[in-house]
Amino acid sequence: MASALRTSVRRFATTAIRAAAAETPNAYGVRVSKAQGSVDQLVGAIGNTPLIRLKTLSEETGCNILGKSEFQNPGGSVKDRAALYVVKDAEERGLLKPGGTVVEGTAGNTGIGLAHVCRSRGYRLVIYMPNTQSQGKVDLLRLLGAEVYPVAAVAWENPENYNWQAKRHAERLLKEDPEHGAVWTNQFDNTANRRAHIETTGPEIWAQTEGKVDAFTCSTGTGGTLAGITRYLKDVSNGSVKSFLADPPGSVLYSYVSSGGELKERSGSSITEGIGQGRVTDNLKQEVKELDGAFSISDEKTIEMVYRCLDEEGLYLGASSALNVVAAKEVAEKLGPNHTVVTVLCDGAYRYADRLFSDKWLKSKNLRDAIPKRLEKYIVLP
Ligand SMILES: Cc1ncc(COP(=O)(O)O)c(C=O)c1O
Repeated sequence: MASALRTSVRRFATTAIRAAAAETPNAYGVRVSKAQGSVDQLVGAIGNTPLIRLKTLSEETGCNILGKSEFQNPGGSVKDRAALYVVKDAEERGLLKPGGTVVEGTAGNTGIGLAHVCRSRGYRLVIYMPNTQSQGKVDLLRLLGAEVYPVAAVAWENPENYNWQAKRHAERLLKEDPEHGAVWTNQFDNTANRRAHIETTGPEIWAQTEGKVDAFTCSTGTGGTLAGITRYLKDVSNGSVKSFLADPPGSVLYSYVSSGGELKERSGSSITEGIGQGRVTDNLKQEVKELDGAFSISDEKTIEMVYRCLDEEGLYLGASSALNVVAAKEVAEKLGPNHTVVTVLCDGAYRYADRLFSDKWLKSKNLRDAIPKRLEKYIVLP
């Protein structure tokens, strides 16, 4: 059964590659993509993002380093894909009816994706989030129509953790108004999240590289992106594409993967938002065994890469994307020249600019010295 599925995935993937190759340049020499065309409502604009070749890092490593530009999604991040899939999943399971309410615990980007999807589909949205997140994200959620509850940042095991509060809120609403329905979309353990990347991001990467991808790497929050893309690329390539976890300080997954599933050591904390994990989520559970290794990336390397991507590539990226780019470079160095390595550019720097480009903030995190002299001109905020 599994092998029949893999065979049909490979057959479908070959057709997709042919379709991509058929996009010949027009009379002006421009390759116009047929992938999008006109789409039905906002949700039709989620996904089908370009793969951007990172010139300087590709030259430095002798590899082809490609970033999937997820910041081009309508909500501005990779999490639009998961948001769409968890809502579709709730609809398919009959848990949401017109006028119903979606409740989610999210550090920000899933909430923003959900806010767009819920508005476009006519649902109310309630968000619980740790009160450690940037004010920009909270404000944006509110102006997109969500009801937001920033709550104390406590561990998953604590009943007051933002996810359990979201779950209880949905249960309360469902009791009060069973007619419209209310659902806790549970992005961490609802595998509809991972499915978004098995069905869309993974196939897009395979088609865009015309099947010539040697390795993939990215960091994890829920694990949906890493697990879903890993699953698809392993299946379609018969296991030949390698996949690596990229982890920030303060997350347990690096120790877990590199010890073969024994250790769950946590040390330090990170400036990155939306990534780093204290447990193996249901989204990650199946694929974690199939990873080919893990990279632990320091905040010093991440912040330097935020500035390098801006200076060398013109890419204005958030810290999780920069961490992914550092990991892609390290994977390329590990594999050696002439390999293609893909990673994810999760979101832009817009929501974090007041931190990432502030002299005072960099000093408060002991990261001011991580910015090379030639890049200091980008520290434009006091
Ligand atoms: C900025 C950012 N990068 C990366 C991720 C991680 O994605 P995933 O939840 O699929 O592991 C998130 C998740 O919220 C995020 O907000």
